[in-house]
Amino acid sequence: MKFSLPFFLFAFNHLFTPLVHGENEGERLLAMLIKKLEHKTSIYDAALNQNSAKDDEGTVYLSRQDGLKVADKITRLPGQPNDVKFDQYAGYVTVDPQVGRALFYYFVEAPKKSFGKDKKPLVLWLNGGPGCSSIGNGAMSELGPFLVKSDGKTLYENPHAWNNIANMLFLESPTGVGFSYSNVTSDYKNNGDKRTARDSYTFLINWLERFPEYKTRDFFITGESYAGHFIPQLANLILENNIKYKNLTTIKLKGIAIGNAYIETIENEQGLFDYLWLRSVIHNDTYYHIKSVCNITGQDYNGDDVCIKALEVADIEKGRISLYNIYAPICNSLQSDKNSLQQGNILKKGADPCSDHNVESYMNLPEVQTAFHANTTKLSHAWTQCSDLFKHDDWKDRPDSVLPEIKQAIDSKLRVWLYSGDFDAIVSVTATQYSLQNLGLPIETKWGPWYHKEQVGGYFMVYKGLTYAIVNGAGHMVPADQPERALELFRVFLEGKQLNTSSPP
Ligand SMILES: *[C@@H]1O[C@H](CO)[C@@H](O)[C@H](O)[C@H]1NC(C)=O
Ligand SMILES: *[C@@H]1O[C@H](CO)[C@@H](O)[C@H](O)[C@H]1NC(C)=O
Ligand SMILES: *[C@@H]1O[C@H](CO)[C@@H](O)[C@H](O)[C@H]1NC(C)=O
Ligand SMILES: *[C@@H]1O[C@H](CO)[C@@H](O)[C@H](O)[C@H]1NC(C)=O
Ligand SMILES: *[C@@H]1O[C@H](CO)[C@@H](O)[C@H](O)[C@H]1NC(C)=O
Ligand SMILES: *[C@@H]1O[C@H](CO)[C@@H](O)[C@H](O)[C@H]1NC(C)=O
Repeated sequence: MKFSLPFFLFAFNHLFTPLVHGENEGERLLAMLIKKLEHKTSIYDAALNQNSAKDDEGTVYLSRQDGLKVADKITRLPGQPNDVKFDQYAGYVTVDPQVGRALFYYFVEAPKKSFGKDKKPLVLWLNGGPGCSSIGNGAMSELGPFLVKSDGKTLYENPHAWNNIANMLFLESPTGVGFSYSNVTSDYKNNGDKRTARDSYTFLINWLERFPEYKTRDFFITGESYAGHFIPQLANLILENNIKYKNLTTIKLKGIAIGNAYIETIENEQGLFDYLWLRSVIHNDTYYHIKSVCNITGQDYNGDDVCIKALEVADIEKGRISLYNIYAPICNSLQSDKNSLQQGNILKKGADPCSDHNVESYMNLPEVQTAFHANTTKLSHAWTQCSDLFKHDDWKDRPDSVLPEIKQAIDSKLRVWLYSGDFDAIVSVTATQYSLQNLGLPIETKWGPWYHKEQVGGYFMVYKGLTYAIVNGAGHMVPADQPERALELFRVFLEGKQLNTSSPP
């Protein structure tokens, strides 16, 4: 039996429709679940892997980048604090000259006078969706140097910005996301996992020509959510191309770290309902009823009335919470008023739930776009946190599991970290642990607490080749909810050390 989308939107009113206007990374992933329900069967069919034939395109597009770095230097972002001690750059890198496809980046260097600045690594940050902006989410709402105030016009300093310890590169990927574009609009419908990896690689190779001083720098890839697909895929492509193309830059990739990583389809969905039950968001009876009538762990849902009814009960029990941080306030009029009163103090009170609105206002200001050197071709659509130019149905390829890619990264001796904000239901701690179980790595350090500032920052476990860490008190967007703990985790990851296990005296 096939169901129409409106029917499901009715059934899952709160579960699946955004609480605020627009969409974010977590909601994107939920939309994928609706699609699965709508079609009843899995949408991850072999047919979706149709563009694999183009996999072995023999060449990588490379063009001269002389003078472009200077042109990309940002003088000042509108409304930014004074006294900024680091350089910022932004601009386009063409990845396909035939259709005219260019990806947009924002690069924030470590502070000029900071110790060992010339050795600090280069780190690429990727958000998920697929289709959500790494600049709007990662840079402007999570770990960038500036976050947007509730006026949507001015910026305040993020004291726990990751560029304190690394040179941070934020990429709007794939094409159609944020300011990234194609001159042939039908090109937006050709996005998929494989092309995203290829374009990101082409971007990096050309970007390194523009910033040649970073060619020899240690390189890491970090990100979250659906970047659980993008990151291991890109990492393996880099390693393959490092060997394959002797005439291209050898990227000094050292490791990857992924937050609330979307790894496996079935495990993730099972993890969602198990998590809601474990956290007492839904009642035991409701949970067992769903399990018996919906066949969650099967490839197919029993998308019949009985299952829908059970899910409706769950939805009512859950209430109006955000599934990507079940304990966080949601954005409503009361909340936006409060934020304007607490301006600049938001970090101490937890992440700003209205951040998406503020960021969208800011990024659409013409003077902001000019300062970023963005939107030079006067695109006909507005900048949004997540792209409306392609939908899940358009996505060309998406494996059900990226465990093989993660395994390959481990076997290639990359440093591999997964971390989870434990208040996230969308890619829950439970889901990640099911996938880790499937991965089946030998355990080196047993489960236990890690400390930061004399408090338990979370829990962690070291497997052979992979560290898994929990960040207590964070949702889907870990650096936004727990900025200090996130920065500590990032520091330890970069330094190749272990989280601090000694409890305070
Ligand atoms: C897209 O087209 C515009 C207008 O012709 C041109 O200026 C721009 O360079 C093109 N973009 C790419 C990436 O080729
Ligand atoms: C690199 O070498 C390959 C052949 O090994 C060639 O096809 C390709 O065009 C070269 N790329 C560049 C950018 O020179
Ligand atoms: C939860 O429900 C199941 C199935 O009805 C039942 O076997 C179990 O005892 C219940 N557990 C609790 C704690 O109520
Ligand atoms: C659940 O789905 C699997 C296929 O993924 C199927 O083999 C099984 O029969 C289904 N179970 C029920 C109770 O429908
Ligand atoms: C690009 O600029 C045009 C015209 O100035 C504007 O209407 C559009 O919203 C902008 N698009 C993006 C993606 O910034
Ligand atoms: C680890 O934490 C303890 C207190 O919990 C602290 O005394 C010690 O300095 C920390 N070690 C490192 C390497 O940060």
